[in-house]
Amino acid sequence: MSESDITASTAWRDLVDHQREIADTTLRELFAADPQRGAEFVLEVGDLYIDYSKHRVTRETLRLLTALADEAGVTARRDAMFAGEHINATEDRAVLHTALRAPSGRAPEVDGQDVSGDVHAVLAKMGAFSEEVREGRWRGATGEAITDVVNIGIGGSDLGPAMVYKALRAYVQPGLTCHFVSNVDPADVTATLARLNPATTLFIVASKTFGTQETLTNAHAAKRWLLDGLGSGEEAVAKHFVAVSTNAERVAAFGIDTANMFGFWDWVGGRYSVDSAIGLSVMIAVGPERFAEFLGGFRAVDEHFATAPIEQNAPILLGLIGLWYSDFFGAQSRAVLPYSQDLARFPAYLQQLTMESNGKSVRIDGTPVTAATGEIFWGEPGTNGQHAFFQLLHQGTRLVPADFLGFAQSTDDLPTTDGVGTMQDLLMSNLFAQTKVLAFGKTADEIAAEGTNPAVVPHKVMPGNRPTTTILAPKLTPSVVGQLIALYEHQVFTEAAVWGINAFDQWGVELGKVQAGELLPVIAAEDAPAADLDSSTAAQVRWYRGQRGR
Ligand code: F6P
Repeated sequence: MSESDITASTAWRDLVDHQREIADTTLRELFAADPQRGAEFVLEVGDLYIDYSKHRVTRETLRLLTALADEAGVTARRDAMFAGEHINATEDRAVLHTALRAPSGRAPEVDGQDVSGDVHAVLAKMGAFSEEVREGRWRGATGEAITDVVNIGIGGSDLGPAMVYKALRAYVQPGLTCHFVSNVDPADVTATLARLNPATTLFIVASKTFGTQETLTNAHAAKRWLLDGLGSGEEAVAKHFVAVSTNAERVAAFGIDTANMFGFWDWVGGRYSVDSAIGLSVMIAVGPERFAEFLGGFRAVDEHFATAPIEQNAPILLGLIGLWYSDFFGAQSRAVLPYSQDLARFPAYLQQLTMESNGKSVRIDGTPVTAATGEIFWGEPGTNGQHAFFQLLHQGTRLVPADFLGFAQSTDDLPTTDGVGTMQDLLMSNLFAQTKVLAFGKTADEIAAEGTNPAVVPHKVMPGNRPTTTILAPKLTPSVVGQLIALYEHQVFTEAAVWGINAFDQWGVELGKVQAGELLPVIAAEDAPAADLDSSTAAQVRWYRGQRGR
């Protein structure tokens, strides 16, 4: 498949020219010129209220971005994904995470597979198993019910369930706790297991390939801990270990009964897999009904993405706006700022989604890209971020577009000390204030008019004109979490489609894995020379061997 260079298109050049025309126009001016802007540059999708009015875009910008999406064939590519075409060309695979949340009978048949039938069969198996654990019918080797579930996985086999479990804290069944072990740093598994009782612990080994070094190493460590702790033989494994994987052979080789395996398929990318069996820990924690609501949230946004015209299509529009800053304003990153402690892991989750998907330098046909690709996402929950890095957002020299996420209702609302509003009101007043100040700032004249020492005035000027998207929802429900994830998945898709890159492979992570495998025996040896190594790595290995104290 040959990709045309989108940066050579008229649509792209029109945007370059347009950016020059509006580069000096401020958000203050845009709002003054268009009093309806704040109410009209809004999209409502499912439960989400998405305000994109505080962006450095005019109606003409949106028209030109829509033309760019048309030129790049974004909607045709979207349709090819939903239809199950092999759009992941380098791995010759379909990309069908949308089928994981489609109603029964509504996913395409792919390569002879009854996708919908298989998806719903696994969901039913997950549901039955989850209920067994939740109701205490699933017993460990000593006959005790399960109180703790440990998901062992990494990347997409960790970040998704870990993020969603935390987000859905309010829905977790009392008496059940999930833990997430990912890092091959022994501190991770050790610190987690130290708090647990082997008799009441269930391990979910989650790995698409079941070949990931970190996951298998941690799973073996957990298995040793279990058998030592129970003082029992291998037969205890069947009661305390289940697997989530696409690879039954490797699951069996590890010693897990494949009857206790929950499958998924090669057309689910790791970073798109929390809505597959990879979400098993979440389903155990919140129950199959809540999990179904979670999938329903994805589905609401999928349906919108699949049908809404580009100019009203929230994920397409937000993806295009992200690209507008990174490719036409030279922005280096996007901050994601959830005003919700329960969404604390959402920025980390999105980092894998966007950076592993779109951190690519060649187009699908192998030719080099000619524009910056792959937005860098980062962030922390508000209000913590305000007291840490917001100074740079407000007065620094870099343009950092930001997404603010907030909710109308909190599960845990408490009164404030001065009796004005509640803590949730206080949290949200911070969100609204920040986006307002970022957009409109405060001028030198306004500051001087307050009687400020003239020498200090320049230091207090708030330049404003710093763009934000605000995404609001009534409450952080399972459905809303699904809606938010799908909203970002399809933004990432849109950007990849414009850049002409494959968002669904990740070859860049392979070489490091291979070389770590080659270096392990070199490092572990006492005296073998660090042969064939560059002088820097060789010196580091010698230093490491000298310092490790064994
Ligand atoms: O190393 C990258 C990666 O392949 C991710 O894409 C994936 O989510 C993660 O490793 C874990 O892979 P697996 O689920 O196969 O263990």
